[in-house]
Amino acid sequence: MNKQFSMFGIALLILIVLTSVILGLAAGPTNPLTWLLVAFLISIPFIHKKMAKRTYIEWEDSYSVGLNSIDLQHKKLINLINQLQTAVDYSTGEEFEREALNDVLDYTKTHFTHEEGLLEQHGYPELEPHKAEHLRMIKYIEVTIAKYEKDPDSSINNALDFLKQWLINHINGTDKQYSSFMLEKGAQ
Ligand SMILES: [Fe+2]
Ligand SMILES: [Fe+2]
Repeated sequence: MNKQFSMFGIALLILIVLTSVILGLAAGPTNPLTWLLVAFLISIPFIHKKMAKRTYIEWEDSYSVGLNSIDLQHKKLINLINQLQTAVDYSTGEEFEREALNDVLDYTKTHFTHEEGLLEQHGYPELEPHKAEHLRMIKYIEVTIAKYEKDPDSSINNALDFLKQWLINHINGTDKQYSSFMLEKGAQ
């Protein structure tokens, strides 16, 4: 469904319910349907929060790789992916989506450069396969941006699902593999 249309549909539904409640209360507060609609209106923020939790990534302590600088960068990457999700959810327009997507790409590159530099500095033996995994991710984001330019609506949600899944899997899998080695080397 078109994003703008679905946001418009939700806003229209809330407006209809709100009008029904006002008319219901004005006619006399005894109608149970009016109170049912009041309960629905009150529950909207809770429903919204629950739905948002499913789409946004929340940092968990279990994601820590034990190195402060890396954890901070992973948190920032999560924030940037969440910002992209916000841009898509609230239909802020293609300009903002494109900017958010480019921010994800730029900061992913920054993070990979920092992480690889730190691993190299401490002589991490699995650096090359780790670098190759990073390179595949960069390529994926670049291809996604190219697809986005051609067909924004259909490519962005797939990209978001992939980015979220990839980041958490990479942190919990490939990144965590260096934790004990790097901590033993005194990295922070
Ligand atoms: Fe990594
Ligand atoms: Fe990382």
